[in-house]
Amino acid sequence: MLGVCYYPEHWNEDRWETDARRMRELGISFVRIGEFAWSRLQPSRGNFDFAWLDRAMDVLTKAGLKIVLGTPTATPPKWLIDEYPEILPYDEQGRPRGFGSRRHYTFSSETWWRESARIVEAVAKRYGDHPGLVGWQTDNEYGCHDTTLSFGPEDLKAFRRWLRLRYQSTEQLNEAWGSVFWSMEVASFDDVALPNLTVTESNPATRLDFWRFHSEQVAAYDAMQCEIIRRHSPDRWITHNFMGFVLDFDHFQVADNLDLASWDSYPIGFVEKFPFSEAERNRWAETSHPDIAPFHHDLYRAVGRGRFWVMEQQPGPVNWAPWNPIPKPGMVRLWTWEALAHGAEVVSYFRWRQAPFAQEQMHAGLNLPGLDELSPGGREAGQVASELATFGTLPETQTAKVAVVFDYQSYWTTVIQPQGKDFRYEELTFRWYESLRRLGVDIDFVRPGAPLDGYALVILPCVTEISADLERELRQFDGVVLIGPRTGSRTRNFTIPDNLPPGPLSDLTGHRVLQVATLRPGLAQPVKGQVSGAAIRWREDIEATGDVLARFGDGMPALTRKEKIHYLACWPDESLLAATMSLVLDAADIPTFELPEHVRMRRRGELVFAFNYGAEDWTVPTGISIVLGERTLRPYEVAVWRA
Ligand code: GAL
Repeated sequence: MLGVCYYPEHWNEDRWETDARRMRELGISFVRIGEFAWSRLQPSRGNFDFAWLDRAMDVLTKAGLKIVLGTPTATPPKWLIDEYPEILPYDEQGRPRGFGSRRHYTFSSETWWRESARIVEAVAKRYGDHPGLVGWQTDNEYGCHDTTLSFGPEDLKAFRRWLRLRYQSTEQLNEAWGSVFWSMEVASFDDVALPNLTVTESNPATRLDFWRFHSEQVAAYDAMQCEIIRRHSPDRWITHNFMGFVLDFDHFQVADNLDLASWDSYPIGFVEKFPFSEAERNRWAETSHPDIAPFHHDLYRAVGRGRFWVMEQQPGPVNWAPWNPIPKPGMVRLWTWEALAHGAEVVSYFRWRQAPFAQEQMHAGLNLPGLDELSPGGREAGQVASELATFGTLPETQTAKVAVVFDYQSYWTTVIQPQGKDFRYEELTFRWYESLRRLGVDIDFVRPGAPLDGYALVILPCVTEISADLERELRQFDGVVLIGPRTGSRTRNFTIPDNLPPGPLSDLTGHRVLQVATLRPGLAQPVKGQVSGAAIRWREDIEATGDVLARFGDGMPALTRKEKIHYLACWPDESLLAATMSLVLDAADIPTFELPEHVRMRRRGELVFAFNYGAEDWTVPTGISIVLGERTLRPYEVAVWRA
């Protein structure tokens, strides 16, 4: 169940055999290669060189490793960019982004699609049935380094094409966008401009369409690669390695073309990237926050329709966050077990050996820079491998009782129109997830509109547009539902629904939103009733026909219930959130187990896992039979027992 990312092109060929042998000795079965090697595979137009990769794949295969081969499209080589500079993406300021790192292409360029198809076809043809090959990775981390949206001439052309197909006539476009406002009407699709560099904010409907257009392009581009690979390599699976907290495109849509999802887990790096408070950042600096990696494991299990890998696992300090601490001893092992507990099929470390050269020379590997000597993280990977050997295969992952609806478009919508500066979709969803996990429950994420059968509790932290599928699923669902602020607040065309939010759900929830207030940091409004705490950041004035379970200080409803559907009309602070979660879990008859801030649990089949992210011990429940670890769960330790 372990793998590693390897770059044969970074090392002299005489080291490959030793590397491969040492990987096997460490307990590694899978090796991912090739995803940045375009300049070596095709040094110039018409000149392919596969001989080195043939030899590398043979060495790895002979050692008994199973190969995942990446298509090298994240790194178009210099000769190609010189030949076709229109491949380069443009930033929001309208400047081309240069050659010299990676991901320097726009999904809008037809030339880029043609050139991508060429290299993917060449690689797929050559290695499609290689005996060592088990699967493919398309490209590398779509959208990373802000590369989903691009604002150049190619993007404008493609956006106009997309709009023409979608709206057919400019009358329909003007109507959908409300272009009469500020005289934004266009007489031809060629009048449509990019939504950047405007004097003040541009039309939100235009921006949302621009986001949808780019998101669809990513999915179509990936489907193009998959189609070529499947033609030449029909018996191998295909994945893509998604990057955490990159929300600019709909990952569910991309994964529709894939056999399984994978994601790149940098738990400590993400502590800096996520909008945590400084106190939280300091607290979790060397371990990561206990819900960061699990949040993504659960999300990508949904994205992969039940199947996911961690394609890259942080093995020590990284190089790219503002600060890059060394993980506490034990954390690399803990993160690995945690991924497996959440259903990962394989955890693959990034990377085999630290590179002593180029951009990532400060990034740890399983081996020290340039040497055949394990790093501390490498030794922990070896420990997991021996522990796994005694486990045999892990049981199947079961469906959780709680489903949380995750919606990429709601992120786009709320970025376009935050209304309050700190209304951040990813933070809201994360906090709701964290609060549930503090109560010891397992969680599945679901795509909006996915079937909800089998769940006891369904939670929508915020889904701004209610699709027909989602509406149907909610109407059929007979469990408990909790719905959060801004849900149903916009139509497909980014307008306020005629019957006011929550639009199509209003008869189900029994409320209407009349006004909303956003609250500056430091301002809070008390909430009291069956749950209490405070509203922060966002608060709605609603009219409710159902039961009012809690009210704001001014007497307006804060938490309502109509039959089993609850609506929370604010961004809750920690205590209101925890109380609300307990209330709905209780209503759904889901047993809870209050955990301290630094401990989390997760079940996989009959196995229960506990993880200690803190510096204090925790005692696991009595009357159980431990299969890994000890009853006293020491700092940065893992315990596993049978339920
Ligand atoms: C990932 C990327 C890898 C490597 C790694 C460093 O985002 O896929 O190629 O750059 O980060 O942490």
